[in-house]
Parts: sequence; structure tokens; C-alpha cells
Amino acid sequence: MSYKIETIKVNKSRLSEIDFDNIPFGKLFSDHMFSADYIDGEWTNLQIIPFAPLELSPVNLALHYGQSIFEGMKASKMTDGTPALLRPELHVQRLNASADRMCMPHVPEDLFLQALHELVGMESGWIPQKEGSALYIRPVMFAMDAKLGVAVSETYKFLIITGPVGPYYPKPVKLLADTQYIRAAHGGVGEAKTAGNYAASLYPARKAMEKGYDQILWLDAKEFKYVQEVGTMNIFFVIDGKVVTPETNGTILKGITRKMILHILKDQGIEVEERLVDIHEIVAAHKDGRLTEIFGAGTAAVISNVELISYDGVDMKMPPIETHKIAHMLKNTINGIRSGEVADKFGWVVPVKRETAKV
Ligand code: COI
Repeated sequence: MSYKIETIKVNKSRLSEIDFDNIPFGKLFSDHMFSADYIDGEWTNLQIIPFAPLELSPVNLALHYGQSIFEGMKASKMTDGTPALLRPELHVQRLNASADRMCMPHVPEDLFLQALHELVGMESGWIPQKEGSALYIRPVMFAMDAKLGVAVSETYKFLIITGPVGPYYPKPVKLLADTQYIRAAHGGVGEAKTAGNYAASLYPARKAMEKGYDQILWLDAKEFKYVQEVGTMNIFFVIDGKVVTPETNGTILKGITRKMILHILKDQGIEVEERLVDIHEIVAAHKDGRLTEIFGAGTAAVISNVELISYDGVDMKMPPIETHKIAHMLKNTINGIRSGEVADKFGWVVPVKRETAKV
């Protein structure tokens, strides 16, 4: 089905003000965004409009009780200049899985994809070309009912925001395996990409940063023993040449970059294990010199090298990053597929259908 999306363009683009050589993560936003409202059981007011503040009731349900979900995607330019998305359908499916968990409506896949193509086509001038940069795409849906009873909202807003980004972690990261705070327990919302998961991570992450670490490595909520994820990315260990990553068991975000990594590794004949990963096994493998690489993976983070993990008061320092061959190969493969420099033999790249005139 094709939807009628009304377009209202900015009077003057901000594009010429952007220094594409210095792009921080998540601070710059393109001229336009997609906006839709869920009212009376259907998505309406389908529009591409100038990026601008919203008007919200002070008793907006999402502000008070957190009914809010989001996605993180990227668009890049292929070598011939065509803007392209990577596995957009998986992001639509994951947003709708998060919506189920949070009692929110689905966004029809064809509407989401059409909006993405039209918006990214229109904002293609905002896609940075520098290595490690991309146009970040942030779809977000939140409750719009204005009332204070704790209840499922009947109305929602769905936005797709875009903006040029550089690397999320410009340097290798230092992680603290936390034994005091938790991210997610079985039966909770750990698998949903919902705002509250990130809000709950802020205090422990701040404490970790005060101690000189960049982020928390979350352990399970019951025994503080099994590795979960980093919160901004999934985590992978290379032990005895095998890649080991925690299985997704309801407490971990089902990363789309994670899924692609597992596919690439299997395709290259590199052994992979998705299973429970005991932090004591990591400590032992580090001690014996069998732990050769640790890396995180996510849309924003792509592949981020881990320089050390601290557990139980001991900093486990990894060998020099130049020796992290698997992480390096994965980063080059994913970025290469995205830009068209590596053959897309899995059919993951989706060229943007409609490149409308630049504003
Ligand atoms: C992403 O990787 O796109 C995410 O949504 C993680 C975010 C918290 C930066």
C-alpha cells in the first residue's frame, strides 16, 4: 500500500552551517522529520515537516510513566552516491516487538518503510561521507494522552528524526562489570528498546565514569554472574579463537548489528557460541592469555573495541587493539557493505527509492 505523506519544507536549509569534518554523535539534526499521529485506532497526519520543538501537554503520559520506544538506524551513501539503508525491515520488526511489550500500537511496515525512503531521500545531502560517519536515523514512538492515571495511552506520536553522526565511541572503551546495579531481570523489559531501560542505566553509568570507566558491563539480575550487554551495545569475547556472546534470553536487546555479526562470522567459518557467559570464565581466560579480543556492537557503536574490563576490583587489560583482528574484520565488512566497497552478498543493503530534490 502507498500512503499519502504531505511534505512541508523548511524555508532555508541549515545544511551549509554544518562542519562535516567535526560531527559529534547525536547533536546535529537535519532539516526535516517524519511525523504521524495515532488517533482512534489509526495512523493519521502523515507528514514530513521541519525539525522543530513539539507541543506537549504537561500531563503527557509518556513524560510521567515512560510509554516510549525507539530505534537506531543508519543511512550512508554508496560509492555511486546512492543513499542506502541497512536491513531496515529488521528495525521495523523490532520497533513493533517493543510496541507489543509496552502496550503500544504497531507502525505498519509499509508505512514505516515509505516514510524512511521519502525522508532519507529528501535529506540525502545530510549524509556525511567521512569514514566512520553516517546519517543516524532515530524512529521514536511515545504516548500522547494527557491524563495522570497510570494507563495505556490511546493516542501516540511517531517521529523519524535524522542527523549526521560521527563514531559513538571514538576511542576503545573501558567497561566496569557492575555487581551492585542491574539493567534487566527475567520478565522485565530488557528486550524492549524502551526509554526506561536507558534512564535506569544513567546513575550506575555515572558512577562508573567517576571511577574512570566509560560504561557498565551489565551482569544478570539474580547472581551477578552472567554477562548481559553494555546498554549501548551487545558484547562479544574472543576466547581460544572462538567468538562467544551472551544468548538473547529476554533480558538483552536483540541487536541487529549483533545478528549481522553472527551471520558474517558463520559465513567466514569462524566458530561462534551464543550461550550464557559467566564473568568468571572471562576472568580465567584473561588470566591464561586465551581472551584475545572484546568488542561491543550496535547501530550507533558499529564495532567498538574494548580496552579493559574491571571486575571485582581487578582491571583486565586487553592486548593492544591492533591485534584485535576479528573486530577489525567485522568493522571493515559492515562499513564496507554499507558503502558498497564490500560486495553485499547477503542482500542487506536497501537503496533509497526516492531521492527528492535537495532543499
Ligand atoms: C543505537 O545503537 O542506535 C542505539 O539505539 C543505542 C543508543 C542508546 C545510542
